[in-house]
Amino acid sequence: MDLDFYVTERVYGRGEAGVIHEATSQYTAMLQSLPHSRHIAEFAVKVIRSNHILGYTLVDKVELYDRMNHLPHILPLLHWVAFLRDGTTIDPSSDRFDLLREPDAGCYMIILTFERMHYTLAELDRVLTPGQRKDACLQMIHMIRSLHAIDIAHNDFHMGNIMGRKQPDGSYIFKLIDFELGHHDDDGLETQPDYDQLVENIALLLTGEYPCEATHPELAQVLETFRRSRRRPPPFNRLIAAVNTIS
Ligand SMILES: Nc1ncnc2c1ncn2[C@@H]1O[C@H](COP(=O)(O)OP(=O)(O)OP(=O)(O)O)[C@@H](O)[C@H]1O
Ligand SMILES: [Mg+2]
Repeated sequence: MDLDFYVTERVYGRGEAGVIHEATSQYTAMLQSLPHSRHIAEFAVKVIRSNHILGYTLVDKVELYDRMNHLPHILPLLHWVAFLRDGTTIDPSSDRFDLLREPDAGCYMIILTFERMHYTLAELDRVLTPGQRKDACLQMIHMIRSLHAIDIAHNDFHMGNIMGRKQPDGSYIFKLIDFELGHHDDDGLETQPDYDQLVENIALLLTGEYPCEATHPELAQVLETFRRSRRRPPPFNRLIAAVNTIS
């Protein structure tokens, strides 16, 4: 699959690391140009330029996705392609992948292709029912627990980096995006920032405020105990039980 396959149109988001564009395969774009057809974007592509991130760290990103692409609550990387200054490209089928590890490989841009999601959890916050909020919290706990179990930390776990898609039965499936600050470490991962943000997200979703001692003292107590726990892994089951008891 090369870039010609995509038509990038609307911009979804512009961040520190790159710009996220809407993308469609040319075949679908052709079908959608027919009368009475509805436009549906299939993909989101993240365009990262090397003045924001060096070539060899791009390799780390691709390897990070390889490690976690099987996790159900991580938005999987579908495809990537790197552009070199000499006019050539490197993609997953290339045997020149290792070239990208060189700081002076001449890589100036990488395009990461993901499935298109619908809304961030920050946007959905206003419309979710109490049951959907609880479900979002349980999925967030699962995200962090499953990531840390394979020694990956996200480090930017706010509700703008979690996206939801409504399922035919009305429930939402949530997926974690944006691993620009993510990293992998077999011998000792810095997990505390993710735990801090996890409890903050839970409090905000369930009570609308963080900290939440004044309105929900019991939940606040469990969140604080979890956040301060020195056990590794921390007591996820108590967090799950506390979320489930909120009415
Ligand atoms: N797969 C996707 N489908 C639809 N929209 C997306 C997708 N991925 C990202 N977006 C939109 O683009 C925004 C920025 O994406 P992302 O967080 O990956 O980039 P970023 O460069 O790190 O941005 P920021 O610095 O704002 O976190 C998201 O908040 C979201 O609104
Ligand atoms: Mg982001």
